[in-house]
Amino acid sequence: MKVVRGISELRLDGEVGLVPTMGALHAGHISLFDAARAENDVVVASLFVNPAQFGEQSDLARYPRDEARDLELAEQAGVDVLFAPTIEEMYPTGFATWVDAEETGAEGGARPGHFRGVATVCLKLFNIVHPTRAYFGQKDAQQTIVVRRLVRDLNLGVDVRVLATVRDEDGLALSSRNALLTPAERERALGLPRALTKAAASADPVAAARAELNGLDPDYVELLDLDGATLLAAAVRVGSIRLIDNVLVKGALA
Ligand code: PAF
Repeated sequence: MKVVRGISELRLDGEVGLVPTMGALHAGHISLFDAARAENDVVVASLFVNPAQFGEQSDLARYPRDEARDLELAEQAGVDVLFAPTIEEMYPTGFATWVDAEETGAEGGARPGHFRGVATVCLKLFNIVHPTRAYFGQKDAQQTIVVRRLVRDLNLGVDVRVLATVRDEDGLALSSRNALLTPAERERALGLPRALTKAAASADPVAAARAELNGLDPDYVELLDLDGATLLAAAVRVGSIRLIDNVLVKGALA
């Protein structure tokens, strides 16, 4: 695996699959690498903790980082090129052009500016890597909606593939932020996937999930449309950690 820090060093041929990540890799990322490996000539993973998508500086500062471990996992998963730029490489002095992604959906409302940061970095990554396909996880459902809209609205010609959420055996959706949960918080966090799974089959999934989440302090519970599939999505706070998750209510991931 080649580790590339500079944009000008990236030279890629054939069909390229890009998996954008912020590191702290887990089995969810590995499933995206596997899918990219199966469908492309070259697999590129990006590793960049994008400051532009964090609201609070404290959240950015405590985001889990372990580059040596990430390199090992990416290499084992068959990634060909790991693009790990510095902040200065991505946002040089004088950087002033942003994608003004309109914030539809409760996740955008709850995190003002978040999707502007996500859409801007994804557009930059797409322009740098020129992927044929880019891979995202269903867990970040609103993000996949924003990225698919970005590709459509700006005619980027990238096939945005969305893969099913990978869960721990107990049902908790894998997330880099899970590493920040204490054992007691992790136990409480299980209430999120349990509530969504139970509520998905009810006549009013949002009301049912709200009732089931009782005590978990939901930021929101909502139904999302992801290209014809209906998802029941929620964000909750467990201690100081904010977790999101969603389950399919109707249809299938495209
Ligand atoms: O999902 C993530 O890890 C990030 O939002 C992404 C897509 C890598 C952009 O920074």
